Amino acid sequence: MAFSPKSLLVTGGAGFIGANFIHSFIAGNPGSKVTNLDCLTYAGNLKNLTSLEGNPSYNFVKGDIGDAALVAQKLSEQRVDAVVHFAAESHVDRSITGPEIFVRTNVLGTQVLLEESRKHWQSGIVTDFRFLQISTDEVYGSLGDTGYFTEETPLAANSPYSASKAGADLLVRAYHETFGMPTLNTRCSNNYGPYHFPEKLIPLLIHNIINKSPLPVYGDGLNVRDWLHVRDHAVAIETVLKTAAPGSIYNIGGNNEWKNIDIVNLVCDLLDARLGRASGENRKLITFVKDRLGHDRRYAIDATKLKNDLNWSPSYTFEQGIAETIDWYLANQEWVSEVTSGAYREYCQGQYGGGVS
Ligand code: NAD
Ligand code: DAU
Repeated sequence: MAFSPKSLLVTGGAGFIGANFIHSFIAGNPGSKVTNLDCLTYAGNLKNLTSLEGNPSYNFVKGDIGDAALVAQKLSEQRVDAVVHFAAESHVDRSITGPEIFVRTNVLGTQVLLEESRKHWQSGIVTDFRFLQISTDEVYGSLGDTGYFTEETPLAANSPYSASKAGADLLVRAYHETFGMPTLNTRCSNNYGPYHFPEKLIPLLIHNIINKSPLPVYGDGLNVRDWLHVRDHAVAIETVLKTAAPGSIYNIGGNNEWKNIDIVNLVCDLLDARLGRASGENRKLITFVKDRLGHDRRYAIDATKLKNDLNWSPSYTFEQGIAETIDWYLANQEWVSEVTSGAYREYCQGQYGGGVS
C-alpha cells in the first residue's frame, strides 16, 4: 500500500533541488505540511521560496542538520513521518579546495540526522516513517565510453564530494540493515533548471554569456554528463517516497548524455538568438582551461528499475527543458544579480537574524 506522508522534514530546502522539490510537493499535496530545515550556507537562498511565505503548509527553520537537539525537537514537535534529506555541500570544485566541510556536513551531519530519526521512529510517535537520502550518481565513480551505472554497480567515489556522499549513502543503508529503519536512497544524475546556483556549469554559462564573460571549459571538454530537469527529479523523489519498498535504492536519470562542449555550444547558440547576437558570436567566449583534478570522464545512469517498479520516467525533453531554463534565467535576472552580488544573503539575514554561515 502507498505511503502517504503528512508531515515532512525537508533538509536543505533553500538550495536548488530542495526548493524545487518543496514547490512541487506542496502544490501536489495540499493536505501535507513541510518543515524546511536549512542553515543557509552560501548555497541556501530564501529568495527561492518567497512565494511560500505565509503558506500554512510550510515553515522554515534556520538550523544545522548536525544540531541533534534541534533536529529531535523538530521531529517530535511536527510529528514528522518523512525526512527528505537534501542538505549537503554539493559542489565538486569546492570539495577539492576545501574537503573538511564536506565530511562534516555530508557524513557527520547525515549521521546526526539518521540517529535522531531512528530515536523518533522507534518512539512510536508516528505510525509509519521514511528517511529518504538524496544521493548522487557520482558515488559510482567514472565510466569509460560504454556502459551504465545500475543500482548494483559498486561504489567507487573519486572526489572528496562524492566520497562524502558515498559515506552518507552507506550510513543510510547501514541504518536499514542494522536497525530495520525504513530508509530509501536515490542516486540521481546532473540536474538543471530554475534556482540553480551559478557556480554550476549550465547557470554559469547562461550568466557569463549574458555578461559577455569567458566560458571556462575544463580539460578537452569531452567529459560526459547525463542531464535531468530538476522538476522531473522532484517528481521521481515523491514517487520513491510514496511507493518504494523500505530499504530500496533507485537510480534516477534523464537518459540524456551530453559532452560538456556540446552543451556549451548549444547554450551559446540558443542565447545568440535570444540576445539578438550574430550566429556564432557567443561561441567566441569559449575558453579551454586547466582540467578539474580527478575529473570523472563519464556518468550514465540506467534508471530501468525506477521505470519498471514505480512507473517513473522523465516528462521533459532536453530541448524543451533547456529552452525553458534559459528563458527562466532571462526572466529572472534580478534573482541572478542578487545571488552574484551577495544581496540574497542580506535578505536571509534580515529574515532570520544571527548571521548567515
Ligand atoms: P545546493 O548546494 O544548491 O543546496 C544545498 C542546501 O543545503 C543549501 O540550501 C544549504 O544552505 C543547505 N545546507 C548545507 N549544509 C547544511 C547543514 N549543515 N544544515 C542544514 N542545511 C545545510 O545543492 P543541490 O544541488 O540542491 O543538491 C541537493 C542534494 O542533491 C545534495 O545532497 C546533492 O548531493 C544531491 N544531488 C545533487 C545533484 C545536482 O545535480 N545538483 C544531483 C544528484 C544529487
Ligand atoms: O552527477 C550529479 C552531480 O552533478 C551532483 O552530485 C553534484 O552535486 C552536482 O554539482 C553535479 O556535479 P558536476 O561536477 O557534474 O557538475 P558541474 O556543474 O560542476 O560540472 C558539470 C561538468 O562541467 C563537469 O564535467 C565539469 C564541467 N565544468 C564545470 C564548470 C563549473 C566545466 O567544464 N566548466 C565549469 O566552469
